[in-house]
Amino acid sequence: MSCCPAPNLTDDVKEYYGKTLQTTGDLQTSMCTTPAQKMAKHVREALKLVHDEVTSKYYGCGIVVPECLEGMKLLDLGSGSGRDCFALAKLVGPDGFVTGVDMTDEQLAVANKHVEYHQKVFGFSKPNVKFVKGYIEKLGDAGIADESVDIIISNCVINLVKDKEAVLKEAYRVLKYGGELYFSDVYSDCILSEEVRSHKVLWGECVSGALQWKQLYDIAKSVGFETPRTLTVHPVEVHKPELKKVTGDAKFASVLYRLFKLKPGFENEASQVIYNGSVTGFPDKLEFDRDYTFENGKAVTVDSVTSAILKQSRFADDFMMKKAPCCAKTTLVGEVDPFQILEESGEKVDMRSQACCTGTKCC
Ligand SMILES: C[S@@+](CC[C@H](N)C(=O)[O-])C[C@H]1O[C@@H](n2cnc3c(N)ncnc32)[C@H](O)[C@@H]1O
Repeated sequence: MSCCPAPNLTDDVKEYYGKTLQTTGDLQTSMCTTPAQKMAKHVREALKLVHDEVTSKYYGCGIVVPECLEGMKLLDLGSGSGRDCFALAKLVGPDGFVTGVDMTDEQLAVANKHVEYHQKVFGFSKPNVKFVKGYIEKLGDAGIADESVDIIISNCVINLVKDKEAVLKEAYRVLKYGGELYFSDVYSDCILSEEVRSHKVLWGECVSGALQWKQLYDIAKSVGFETPRTLTVHPVEVHKPELKKVTGDAKFASVLYRLFKLKPGFENEASQVIYNGSVTGFPDKLEFDRDYTFENGKAVTVDSVTSAILKQSRFADDFMMKKAPCCAKTTLVGEVDPFQILEESGEKVDMRSQACCTGTKCC
């Protein structure tokens, strides 16, 4: 990064999420944009069960609910008041477990207050979610062991941390092989100016700390993850004129990515795969990323990395796989410019027209 954030960055962020913001409606950008139409029914139902106080302090920027969750061990980086953790606790079921890590006492207090409530609502004999105080760039200090987690999620948090590489390194360390980091975050179309990066409110609103989207690919590669896969892209608008003056022409988008950790040395071979419709909530088709959608019963030729992902991950039992015909041509999934996607899809930059946010009031 070429510029430096404000010196007391961590304390400022704690103050912003612990004291300045009281509810989602206090946000000053359209960061909290969770388009309801994209959610599968079982996910909507799980979210409906989350306690109102928890939901009122939701500050995320995407739907971080991966598929195929039953019995999984999940970790949420920057779990806040726990909305995603509680919904996911329902979806992993009584044999799964969700751990949320956050550094802000006030947010942790709200989350901890409602652990028993959700256990009862879900009808589980014991809680399957816990919240730990800690820093996501130092997960070891929070007691998270090497290769102990199946899936990591994170919703609008990594941009708040100065050392993004440290966060991704820690995520890689604690994930099992075949596991994934499935996360939503804010990205920019350019390297941001010093003025933007040192702005306290814009930093707290997840704008100033946004990586230029290409930087994510470089960091992911250096840490050992496979190429990030893009799932969804939504524009983020800075509404207030005084903040817009600071950000100028820079564009922002929240992007949902999935990054897999694979055992090295997998076969460099394309495969033909057939989805068997067994993933909960997706009997007809599984939209894996922007490049691959798997329809039930239909053969799809996938590149060597996607083939290794399906073989090594929790999706292995959901596919029948065989060697691709030798004439089959595939291209490895590469970098995707989220801003080009927005331009091509003709989406307006103002999220109010298509999401559940109205002005600064969010869902
Ligand atoms: C934008 S909020 C998102 C919270 C939650 N994921 C949600 O969707 O509601 C950011 C959260 O990240 C936490 N956070 C920021 N930097 C952190 C760090 N370095 N370590 C742990 N938590 C952090 C903040 O305390 C805050 O609760």
